[in-house]
Amino acid sequence: MLLVSSVNVASANDVEVLHWWTSGGEAAAIGVLKDDLSTKGVGWKDMPVAGGGGSDAMTVLRARVTGGNAPTAAQMLGFDIKDWAESTGKLGNLNAVAEKEGWADVVPAALQEFSKHDGNWIAAPVNVHSTNWVWINKSALDAAGGKAPQNWDELVAVLDAMKANGITPLAHGGQAWQDATIFDAVVLGVSSDLYKSAFIDLDEAALGGADMVKAFERMTKLRSYVDDNFSGRDWNLASAMVIEGKAGMQMMGDWAKGEFLKADQKPGEDFVCIRFPGTQGKVTFNSDQFVMFDQGDASDAQVAMAASVMNPTFQSAFNVVKGSVPARTDVPNTDFDDCGKKGMADFAEANSSGGLYGSMAHGHANPASIKNAIYDVVTAHFNGEYDSATAAKELAAAVDAAK
Ligand code: GAL
Repeated sequence: MLLVSSVNVASANDVEVLHWWTSGGEAAAIGVLKDDLSTKGVGWKDMPVAGGGGSDAMTVLRARVTGGNAPTAAQMLGFDIKDWAESTGKLGNLNAVAEKEGWADVVPAALQEFSKHDGNWIAAPVNVHSTNWVWINKSALDAAGGKAPQNWDELVAVLDAMKANGITPLAHGGQAWQDATIFDAVVLGVSSDLYKSAFIDLDEAALGGADMVKAFERMTKLRSYVDDNFSGRDWNLASAMVIEGKAGMQMMGDWAKGEFLKADQKPGEDFVCIRFPGTQGKVTFNSDQFVMFDQGDASDAQVAMAASVMNPTFQSAFNVVKGSVPARTDVPNTDFDDCGKKGMADFAEANSSGGLYGSMAHGHANPASIKNAIYDVVTAHFNGEYDSATAAKELAAAVDAAK
C-alpha cells in the first residue's frame, strides 16, 4: 500500500514563511519576495497570520514551535527576536551566509543590535519602517488651506478645517497597536528627551511626569477627530478612508504608503507624506527581519532565502513596494518615490545625529511584556477610561510592574 504524506508538507526546496503581511500593499511586497525566490528554485508555502504589529503572529508561532512544527522562517520584530534567541535557542545560525556576503559592513548598527545574538547572525533584516509619519489626502489638505502642518498647533488647525469641511479628520482603527503607533509619534513630538527617557530608559519620573500628561492630553485631542466607527477597524481600512477622501489623514508607519501605491495613488499628487509635526529629523524605527528555525545546518532553501532578502537589488525592489526603506546603507535611492527618498534621508540623518530611536509600538524599545503594559494604558486612556493625569500615573505603575 502506498502511504501518501500530506500535500501540505513543504519540500526541501520550499520555505514555509510565517508573517503578518495580509493587506493589499503588504501582499504586493511579499509577492516580490516570492517571485525572487522562485527564480532561485525555492518554492513558497504561505503561513499568514493577520494582525498588524504581529502580536497574533507571535502567538501562532509559539504554538507551532512548542508543538514541534516550526516553520522554515518567520517575520519578527526587534525585542521579540532577542527573546526568541534567548528563551528558545531554536533560531538558526546565519553566520556563514552573513560573512560570505559581508552583511556586517552594510547593515546599520541599530539593526544589527537585533539581527545578532551573542555575536551570531540570527536574522536577516528586510527593511526599515518608521512610525512617525502622517499620510494626508492631497485634495483634503488643499481644501483645508493647503499647507502641511509643521507643529502641533498647525496640525490641530488643519484637523479643525477638515472637520469643518465635513470629512472625518483622522482615520484610525481602534486596536491597541494602532493607538500605540500614534502614541510613538505624539510622545516624540512632545520632545525626544521624553521619548528616550520614558520608552528607552524606562525612567519612572518621565513615564509619570508632566510631559507625559501633555502627551496624553494630545491623544485626547486626537481622539476627538476620529469617527464613531473606529473601534477594531484594521489599519488598511483606515488608509482606504484617506485614499477615498472620506478622511483627511492617517498617522501610521510607512507601511501605509504601500496601500496608497497599491491604489495607484501618487505622492505629491494624490497624497502627501510628512513626519508627524514636531518630529522632523527624528525617527522611531522598526525593522522587519526574517529568522530561520534551526534545522541543524541551515538548509539550502534557508540560505537562499537569507541571501535573497539581503540582496541590494532585491532590497530596492521590495522596499519600493512595501513603503519602507532598505536595511542596507549601500542601496541607491534612484527607484524610490519622494516619500521613500525622504524616508531614506531622514533615517540617515537621525542615525548620524542621535535622533534614531526604536519604536515602542513595534517592539524596538522594550520586550513584549513592557510593550504590552504600555499598550494597555494607552488604549484605556484613548477609550476614555482614564483622564490624562491618571493615565501618566498608571503608565509609570504598569511599566514598573512589568519590569
Ligand atoms: C509592522 C510591520 C510592518 C507592517 C505593519 C502592519 O509591525 O513592521 O511591516 O506590516 O506592522 O501590519
